[in-house]
Amino acid sequence: MSRTYRIAPSILSADFARLGAEVRDVVAAGADLVHFDVMDNHYVPNLTVGPLVCEAIRPLTDAVIDVHLMIKPVDRIVPDFARAGANIISFHPEASEHVDRTIALIQDQGCKAGLVFNPATPLSHLDHVIAKLDLVLIMSVNPGFGGQKFIPEALKKLSAARRRIDAAGREIWLEVDGGVKVDNIAEIARAGADTFVAGSAIFGTGDYKATLASMRAELAKV
Ligand code: DX5
Ligand code: ZN
Repeated sequence: MSRTYRIAPSILSADFARLGAEVRDVVAAGADLVHFDVMDNHYVPNLTVGPLVCEAIRPLTDAVIDVHLMIKPVDRIVPDFARAGANIISFHPEASEHVDRTIALIQDQGCKAGLVFNPATPLSHLDHVIAKLDLVLIMSVNPGFGGQKFIPEALKKLSAARRRIDAAGREIWLEVDGGVKVDNIAEIARAGADTFVAGSAIFGTGDYKATLASMRAELAKV
């Protein structure tokens, strides 16, 4: 299967005291996207960064900034992230009262829109909106923290999401987030993912370039 694969290091596991240098380094090491985890201590039990930090890293890279909103409510802050230079904005259906409206809002702001599925969230949320989406993100951990273990059930869910995407007849990226490592990335690709978020597996190693190369070598075997 010759898919285009993309690797999206999550800055959640970066050294925040040196965030600009970390973003530059990981992109220079071969990252395709910069995954930007936004948590609000309400929808998820952790608190991270907002539009100001997105705006601060925007001038440092041409790479796609992939904003993953783990916040409730969603809509008020979407234009702020668009202005801050986000390219993709993804949100959880449970966090928006009007999922279809939020998708349109993100796209009206000039960004690509993604819908995110927690481990227990059914794919039926795709039923009436998949043709509008640019990205589907399958969580392979419960959102809130980096460094958790990959939940194997996510493989079946990725395969099911892949089937829905292939039937939708438009380009939709299938992203996976949580517990992705060098030693499981090939299996996850075989399940249908094309875009791989990895935080601790990249920022937890000394040599980002070597780690990204190892991940790509694994993907080349798929
Ligand atoms: C979890 C975040 C992830 C997280 C992934 O809520 O959405 O992006 O940073 O971290 P790892 O790769 O360490 O599981
Ligand atoms: Zn994420």
